[in-house]
This record gives sequence, structure tokens and C-alpha cells, in this order.
Amino acid sequence: MNVLMFSPGFPAEMPYFTRGLARVGARVLGLGDQPVEMLPEAARESLSDYLRVRNLFDEGAVVEEVKQWAERVAIDRVECLWEPGMILAARLREALGLPGMTVEETVPFRDKERMKQVLDDAGIRTPRHRRAATAEEVREGVASVGFPVCVKPIAGAGSADTYRVDGEDELEQVLDRITHVPEVSVEEFIEGEEYTFDTICSGGRVHYHNVAWYRPRPLIGRTEEWISPQTISLRTVEAPQVAPGVEMGHAVLEALGFRTGFTHMEWFLKDGEAVFGEIGARPPGARSVDIMNYASDIDVYTGWAEAVCHGRFSQTVERKYNAAVIFKRAQGEGRIRRIDGLETLLHELGDAVVDVDLLPIGAQRRNWRATLISDGYLIVRHRDLESAMAMADKVGTDLQLYAG
Ligand SMILES: Nc1ncnc2c1ncn2[C@@H]1O[C@H](COP(=O)(O)OP(=O)(O)OP(=O)(O)O)[C@@H](O)[C@H]1O
Ligand SMILES: [Mg+2]
Repeated sequence: MNVLMFSPGFPAEMPYFTRGLARVGARVLGLGDQPVEMLPEAARESLSDYLRVRNLFDEGAVVEEVKQWAERVAIDRVECLWEPGMILAARLREALGLPGMTVEETVPFRDKERMKQVLDDAGIRTPRHRRAATAEEVREGVASVGFPVCVKPIAGAGSADTYRVDGEDELEQVLDRITHVPEVSVEEFIEGEEYTFDTICSGGRVHYHNVAWYRPRPLIGRTEEWISPQTISLRTVEAPQVAPGVEMGHAVLEALGFRTGFTHMEWFLKDGEAVFGEIGARPPGARSVDIMNYASDIDVYTGWAEAVCHGRFSQTVERKYNAAVIFKRAQGEGRIRRIDGLETLLHELGDAVVDVDLLPIGAQRRNWRATLISDGYLIVRHRDLESAMAMADKVGTDLQLYAG
């Protein structure tokens, strides 16, 4: 099977999915804007061919170039696991007459209002919501939804331009800050914990699922720099607490007619009830796939590839650990000067630490608002959730990076 892989080199997880395709026997045809020699090793060694385009987001031009390419190389599937490329991938499938998600099927995964309308019609609990393109429409939306509200872009990512608004004065301030956003969703603000429900499916069947817990809620973690945000892939996905979200997750996939590939849904737990957050037809970013792997000692990258190429998921999923990734943000600006507490932590936590990926001394620290990875991360795992949480919190408090 010849699989066109959209952007095999970026974001960070794509090379591993690309390698997964090669490992299950596919001939992988890369489509990207990076020079082939700049692709990460895992991607480069897995590709049988590569089409480099000048601008991956000039949709018309890319469709034309791929059509010409397809006259020379046979393409059986088009896969894209990167949010901004989803619609283009669907257009490519339509242009080449290939199976997989169409543009019409993809739109409800991209447009957060369309998404919630489809789910409302299926009787799924979403936050009350309104679409708004002008300041006046936002005010009208707020009037109908009621404070507190969450104002966020229709096609947002990474909590960018997302605000909680509690009253009229704050609303006017937020309106001034979002003038560059063409369209927003005005939603009922849901108080509660936030979880994910992630799946790998084929032919409408869920082969593998994962439930992760965000600590704290992403909007808070992305607002306060001192926080070391955590995501924990839960070992006990059958726990009564998360059961309403798992049930909702299956209903959402059904309502959206999802059949094959990766999905990443976010949901809220409010007073024991699940409330829908959002869903993407792609894996989560920010090392969430790695914690799925560490939780069960499996290879989800290859598992996804097997599901899309062969319609099965043959790895046995024995959930052994709660696996947590903890993102660290340096104090100060400029270059990383010092890392405190790492040796002691590694000594204390021992085998529970399965990955350490921090910026080295001398590296320029990252803009914490623009990256989910921040200045690096640790991954820890433990069979017992309380212990995993305690370890993750210890990484939050005892490990410090200093820049200057
Ligand atoms: N209706 C809501 N009530 C409460 N909090 C919300 C609501 N909508 C969004 N949020 C908060 O804002 C965050 C970002 O919103 P959302 O997930 O819809 O956008 P995103 O930018 O696509 O997110 P991601 O960071 O997953 O890419 C959520 O994780 C949640 O913390
Ligand atoms: Mg989100």
C-alpha cells in the first residue's frame, strides 16, 4: 500500500508515525515543505519518495502538484495527523478519488461551532454556545449564554486567544484583545476537571482508547508561567469517575461518523457529569502519545499505522502504569544557566523516571506561551495513581531551571 503522509517531519511526533507506516509494510510518500535533508532521521529513513512543495498551505497549488505526482506514483491513501492540514488532506483525497475522510466529514472536526451543532443534534451535552464574528455578536452571544463564558477562536489550538470572562468590563477588555480573530465561539464556562478520550479506530471500530487527565486545567496552566503543567495517561480507564466521558466519547465518534484513524477528544467532568469540550481527527500533541506508550509498554505510532493500513490493532494493551509528562518552564529570560534538583530527583524516583528531555545549559529558553513543551519535560510512571501524582508534583516543585 502506498500512503501519502502529510508533513512527515513536523510537528515532532510525525516522524514516528511516518516510521510506523513503514514498519507495517507501507511505501511511504512524504509531502512537505521542508528540504528532504532537513527531515528528522526517523522520517527520512522511512520515506520511499518525497514531494517538496514551496508552501504547504497554498491549497490550490498543492492539489495540482500532487495530482501531477500521482500520474507517476500510485497513491492509495492520504494521511494527515496535523490539525492545520486536515482540510487540505481531505481535498487531496477527493481530487485523487481516494477513500478516507472527505472535506464535508472533516469540517465538524475543525469548526468548533459546526462540531457542537452536530453533537447537539445527537443529544450530547455540549456547553451552551454561539458563533460570533463581530463584537456585537459576541455581546449578543454572552447575553444568551450568560456569565461566566469562555470566548475562543472557532478554529483555535493551544488555548491561544482563549479567555474566561466573568462580567461586562472584562468582556470589553477581551473584545479589544481578540480583534485579530475572525470568528469566535462564545460558550458557557464549564467548571470542572478536564480529561481526554483518545482513540485509534478502523472501519468505525475503536481498537484502542486512552483517557488522560490534565493537571491543572489547560487554560490555567497556559495562563500562569510558574506552573509545571502535567498530563497523566490513566491506567484505570474503567474508573467510575471517567466512565461518563468514555461513554460520551463513543457517542461522539458515532455522531460524527468517524471511521478510521486517530482521534483526540477533550471533555469536562462537572458534578459527575461529562460535558463535551472539543475533538480533533488526529492524535494529541505535547508528548501525549509517548505517555500512552509508557503507560502500557506499547507502540501507538505503529499501532495507528497498522489500523489505517490493515484495519487491525494487533498489540496487546495491558495497562500497567499511570504515565505523567511534566513540562518545565525556566525562571528568568535568555539562556539556560542552571538546572537544580535533577540529580536528587532521579536518585529518589529511580526507575519511575522513563524520559528526561530538558533544554541543555546554554540553550535559549523557549517562549512558554508559544509552546506546549516549554523548556523540556520529564515522564514518570507508577502503577498507583496517587503515587504517580505525587511524583509528578515533586518534579513540579523540586526541579528548577534558571535562565539569565
Ligand atoms: N466552555 C468552556 N468552559 C471552560 N473552559 C473552557 C471552555 N472551553 C475551553 N476552555 C478551556 O480552554 C482550553 C482551550 O480550549 P479548547 O480546547 O477548546 O481550544 P484549543 O485551543 O483547541 O485547545 P488545545 O490546547 O487542546 O489545542 C480548554 O482546555 C479549557 O481549559
Ligand atoms: Mg483543547
